[in-house]
Amino acid sequence: MRLLREGHEVFGYDGMTRYYDPKLKEARLARLAAFPNFRQTLGMLEDQEKLRAAVAEARPEVMLHLAAQAGVRYSLENPKAYVDSNLVGSWALLEAAREARPAHLLLASTSSIYGANAKIPFSELDRAEEPLTLYAASKKAMEAVAHSYAHLHGIPTTAFRFFTVYGPWGRPDMAPLKFATAILENREIEIYGHGRMSRDFTYVGDLVESILDLARIAPAESNRVPEIDSLSAQAPFRAVNIGGGEPVGLMAFVETLERLLGRPARRKMLPMQQGDVPRTFADPALLLALTGRKPQTSLEEGLREFVDWLLEHRRGLDEAA
Ligand SMILES: NC(=O)c1ccc[n+]([C@@H]2O[C@H](COP(=O)([O-])OP(=O)(O)OC[C@H]3O[C@@H](n4cnc5c(N)ncnc54)[C@H](O)[C@@H]3O)[C@@H](O)[C@H]2O)c1
Repeated sequence: MRLLREGHEVFGYDGMTRYYDPKLKEARLARLAAFPNFRQTLGMLEDQEKLRAAVAEARPEVMLHLAAQAGVRYSLENPKAYVDSNLVGSWALLEAAREARPAHLLLASTSSIYGANAKIPFSELDRAEEPLTLYAASKKAMEAVAHSYAHLHGIPTTAFRFFTVYGPWGRPDMAPLKFATAILENREIEIYGHGRMSRDFTYVGDLVESILDLARIAPAESNRVPEIDSLSAQAPFRAVNIGGGEPVGLMAFVETLERLLGRPARRKMLPMQQGDVPRTFADPALLLALTGRKPQTSLEEGLREFVDWLLEHRRGLDEAA
């Protein structure tokens, strides 16, 4: 939306998978399709021919790879979806990039690759060799394969590691939308790890700013940051955390949501789920050094925007029903 409003030409490619209700995806797409400078192809990344043709038609200056099988817990249920989308699909995208030769390729990776690292905050230079889920492992593998493509084919590539992104139009399988919907419908919310977990929540508006800032900084020796840079010595490849570095406890998150919704949550306390990590905590120093800013929206402010959107969205659904 932001790029379209700025007048850029945007080509979308998405398989509209059924991981969660595609109606939400269709509603998002309808908002994009209202712009004359937006075009899109419905297709899976693994459909290599279709992807290649779409990318060749778009002739992108910048490629932004956000499509993935996301979700930490679902990777225990349906591992194949992660292999297909995140390994085979991301490889197909790299092949398409090899032909299209964009000035910059940006890939969405994740804080999950830091696993249960004890050293906090998580820095891009930390070891991230112990992924706890196939989701994390598939993203780590994508980074490694992309590094080899950056080296072999000279494609400038930035892998950004997102930290728990939330906000309007967010994913229904993530805590903000799942919990808020349950609270509004007076259903129990399941709180894992007995609530003793914390997350470095990132407001989606801040994420957009960071992505656009980074899109203008293709990795190169000329922009190497002394001491803290993950820029490869072998390739124009860099990994960057996008997170504010201000983790919030799960219970404080639930209490903020209750306050904003004006209703109490019915809590069901449960042990930690397999594959979950106790905390995420970004070191934003590299992002800050490269772009001059980092995500700053407080959880309170961001959740207020999210709740306003949710109430409005639900009113729209009620009227349509
Ligand atoms: N939301 C977060 O907190 C978070 C955190 C870390 C990383 N990420 C990463 O950010 C990216 C965007 O995540 P999101 O939260 O918007 O998830 P999302 O599920 O809402 O969006 C992913 C999109 O990819 C599409 N897709 C999935 N597999 C595909 C395939 N094989 N071919 C074509 N399209 C496919 C889906 O239809 C969906 O629209 C993902 O790469 C995700 O792994 C997100």
